[in-house]
Amino acid sequence: MVHVNIFDTTLRDGEQSPGVNLNQLEKLEIARQLERFGVDIMEAGFPASSQGDFEAVKAIAKTIKNSSVTGLARAVKSDIDIAWEALKEAAEPRLHVFIATSPIHMEYKLKKTPEQVMQTAIDMVSYAKKKFTHVEWSAEDASRSDLDFLVRIITKVIDAGATVINLPDTVGYTTPEEYGRMFRYIRENVPNIHKAALSCHCHDDLGMAVANSLAAIENGATQVEGTINGIGERAGNAALEEIAVALNIRKDKYPFTTNLVLKEIKRTSDLVSRFTGMKVPGNKAVVGKNAFAHESGIHQDGVLKNALTYEIITPELVGVQSNDLVLGKHSGRHAFKDKIEQMGFELSQEKLNEAFQSFKQLTDRKKEVTDEDLFAILTDIQTAA
Ligand code: KIV
Ligand code: ZN
Repeated sequence: MVHVNIFDTTLRDGEQSPGVNLNQLEKLEIARQLERFGVDIMEAGFPASSQGDFEAVKAIAKTIKNSSVTGLARAVKSDIDIAWEALKEAAEPRLHVFIATSPIHMEYKLKKTPEQVMQTAIDMVSYAKKKFTHVEWSAEDASRSDLDFLVRIITKVIDAGATVINLPDTVGYTTPEEYGRMFRYIRENVPNIHKAALSCHCHDDLGMAVANSLAAIENGATQVEGTINGIGERAGNAALEEIAVALNIRKDKYPFTTNLVLKEIKRTSDLVSRFTGMKVPGNKAVVGKNAFAHESGIHQDGVLKNALTYEIITPELVGVQSNDLVLGKHSGRHAFKDKIEQMGFELSQEKLNEAFQSFKQLTDRKKEVTDEDLFAILTDIQTAA
């Protein structure tokens, strides 16, 4: 089976959601959880964009050992130099450099001719290769670019040393059939494409980001980019948890493997939602509160007879616990510790004591402490300096 690499950009494209601003400790906590979730690559930020992002990328690069850490750079030397300073201590440093290739972006935004864009792309990939072994090059707005221009520029940037070619649907304009056809065309017409991985990156403006990503994978993409809960610029990015579950449940249609640990999905989603302040809608696929709830009598009857009548995904698969351990004012330290370990938290003795105190105080005000209450207490304590 073909392996698909998972590239998470929650901490970069996801953080570009209006109103979202993660601090370094929150970013680190999410990065640790993404590592547990098993993403192959995480884009930790855009180091040249601010001192705060630079520091956060540096801290994540130093901490994360089992995922490759990358950072974004425009096709300019200073961005690449700053990214190297932030990423050089990573276990596997990786650069993500991009330049737009569509006529509208080249003419109005970059004010460059296609030949100038091509030369800049070649020069910047060659420059980046002096430092980074792994260089991803993105053709921003690829889905609105001329296919033959894409073939020419991709061939040249691979010769310059790019190890991943990413073809984003930057404005969420494409359809599954069109996007799939673009990947097939690139696979069939770029002579040296076997020397690089081919990546897809979709936005959700028309609600097709996940479908477009799956079409790309069916047509030769070996890397898929997205964010947890589908957060991101405008209508967001492709939701990685939805892609992960589709690849798992529909192996008949998508015979691909990933390194993801699906039971970490719920926790990852909760953490991202809490730190970004972006609530997950109840009807959101895979991680919404109602994703496993059955309201109608006919459905409830069916599920009681055999859950598979109306449930194609089991809650356990994505780490939703059917938990009957209720914590209240009579619960002791042991049950509390057990419960928080089940929820995936690892706290020092000191933080555990602090969390237990907060829990006990809450039980004076509330008869039953819910998982949401605990999650709030624990994430606050975990990210307190
Ligand atoms: O959507 C996009 O084109 C991007 C690039 C920077 C890769 O996020
Ligand atoms: Zn994007």
